[in-house]
Amino acid sequence: MSRLVVGNDVVDLGQPRTRGRSEDERFVARVYDVDERATIREAADPDLEVWAHWAAKEAGFKVISKLLGAPPAFVHRAFKVTWTEVLSGSPTVGEVVRRGAVTYEDQRAHVTVTLHPGGVHAVGFGAPDALPETVPLHPSVEPLDATARPWSGELEELRQRFTPQELDAVYSRHSAAVRLGARAELAGAMGVDESRLEIVCDPGPTSQRPPRVLLDGSPAPADVSLSHDGRWIAWVLWWDPETETT
Ligand SMILES: CC(C)(COP(=O)(O)OP(=O)(O)OC[C@H]1O[C@@H](n2cnc3c(N)ncnc32)[C@H](O)[C@@H]1OP(=O)(O)O)[C@@H](O)C(=O)NCCC(=O)NCCS
Repeated sequence: MSRLVVGNDVVDLGQPRTRGRSEDERFVARVYDVDERATIREAADPDLEVWAHWAAKEAGFKVISKLLGAPPAFVHRAFKVTWTEVLSGSPTVGEVVRRGAVTYEDQRAHVTVTLHPGGVHAVGFGAPDALPETVPLHPSVEPLDATARPWSGELEELRQRFTPQELDAVYSRHSAAVRLGARAELAGAMGVDESRLEIVCDPGPTSQRPPRVLLDGSPAPADVSLSHDGRWIAWVLWWDPETETT
């Protein structure tokens, strides 16, 4: 299977900063291009449209950063969202409400946006060469404050569960929790002991580094994207089911 890279972004719509933003003309003009602004204006729920576009741009940015091998400057307007499918009627929680693409120069990421309780979650993927026909992605959106989950606990306690290389990218309870959630799920899905997996970042500015997955210290046949906002932590996983991991 062709190697895939993934991106994701969660927006907590319970946060006051998310309300009424479709009427914030300066914000809308800075972030969205003329076509995106028209889509937002004409939408049944312009605020939801603002955040669906926003999450798609961020997920697309994360995919395209990996395709390019290094993050480009993130000017939101340069990452153009085009929907190919818009769910009509009143969306229900858990439903995919938008499908489309994010383009930046000659790069492209496929994206879907799902409605969650109190939030939107965009998931994107891309590949350096031709994409396979079916792409088995595994997205999760979870409450940061869930109990009895791999990420439940205080930051100091969570920090004990990382290798030194992983720990270099951990700077908050959100950043610890999302890594523990994604790592535990990936280990279960790949059928490997979690101690064999690491989610690491290359050196760079805090929170601006693409995560990579290592298996026994070497690049794993898998990719992960992390996101956190307000009450939510979110990730998307891809692994190559054809690769032997034993
Ligand atoms: C990527 C970015 C947009 C994420 O912002 P955010 O929505 O606040 O944060 P999210 O929680 O959704 O995502 C953060 C996660 O994305 C991942 N990530 C960060 N940069 C990434 C990149 N370029 N590619 C892929 N993943 C990336 C990290 O895993 C990060 O987790 P961490 O903060 O726990 O380390 C932001 O950190 C960034 O890099 N901004 C670019 C700054 C820039 O280019 N400025 C120039 C403006 S002209």
